[in-house]
Amino acid sequence: MAFPETRIGFIGAGNMARAIIGGLLQAGHRPASIAAADPSGEARDRARALHPGLRLSDDNLAVAKGCEALVLAVKPQSLPAVAAALGPRPAGQLLLSIAAGARLASLRRWLGAEAALVRAMPNQPALAGAGMSVLVAGGGLAPEQRALAEYILQAAGETGWVDDESLLDAVTAISGSGPAYFYLLTEILEDSAREMGIPAELAARLARQTAYGAGLVARDSGLGLAELRESVTSPGGTTAAALASLEQAGYRAIVAAALRAARQRAVELGDAADDH
Ligand SMILES: NC(=O)c1ccc[n+]([C@@H]2O[C@H](COP(=O)([O-])OP(=O)(O)OC[C@H]3O[C@@H](n4cnc5c(N)ncnc54)[C@H](OP(=O)(O)O)[C@@H]3O)[C@@H](O)[C@H]2O)c1
Repeated sequence: MAFPETRIGFIGAGNMARAIIGGLLQAGHRPASIAAADPSGEARDRARALHPGLRLSDDNLAVAKGCEALVLAVKPQSLPAVAAALGPRPAGQLLLSIAAGARLASLRRWLGAEAALVRAMPNQPALAGAGMSVLVAGGGLAPEQRALAEYILQAAGETGWVDDESLLDAVTAISGSGPAYFYLLTEILEDSAREMGIPAELAARLARQTAYGAGLVARDSGLGLAELRESVTSPGGTTAAALASLEQAGYRAIVAAALRAARQRAVELGDAADDH
């Protein structure tokens, strides 16, 4: 469903807000229907560079007032004060929070019993329109508001829904923090390529294009990941030697433990946010 004329406001015009706004503009959303508030002149200038027709302000309440959907895109530590200052919101306005850790119960406490709430966890590849966002609906959400939340985040990539909010802690560990795990692996590829004598510029391209290509094939081939892995692993070959070394070092268990640590940290940050 498309909502090209719907008035969408952003509280915070930082990296994620600009990524979503850029996607909305690309999808044909009317620039004059997008407003963003941010105290930072630099953030507003960078948003203005996306399209001169965007409405930009340093006044959160003014932006909140005229919108059918309001995206809360400030840092989690700023959110309690920002949300409390917005005050109780009318049921007709969709509130979409992308702030890590802030649970629906806290959002409801700050934004009132009537608020039509969606909480979402996007990820950084939204900057390239290749994000993955998982959404969870709060109570009191009309079907068109649910579709509108999905429309907004689909501008930055793919979306999925969960019913159980606690799963967002696992989502944070997998796709929220996930890009960093792939950057680390790519960094290791790049560093090792240089150590093996490959010139720096080519080393960077080998690592990054391999990460990009593998991601693309994993997403689009329709084949299972084990099948794809096996298809590049000849018995007794180079890939088999590398994978045997990784398995022997406990690579799967190491990564699984790291993911559990990330999920546990997400739980702790959510508990801390609940205390505000
Ligand atoms: N980046 C990611 O990969 C990622 C992934 C998942 C979720 N998220 C969530 O997305 C949210 C935004 O992250 P981000 O990376 O876009 O952060 P960001 O670039 O720092 O953007 C936040 C913006 O909000 C502004 N701001 C601060 N106080 C404000 C206020 N009172 N009213 C309005 N705007 C205010 C900040 O201005 P100043 O710079 O002047 O403070 C900044 O421009 C966070 O809650 C984060 O948890 C981010």
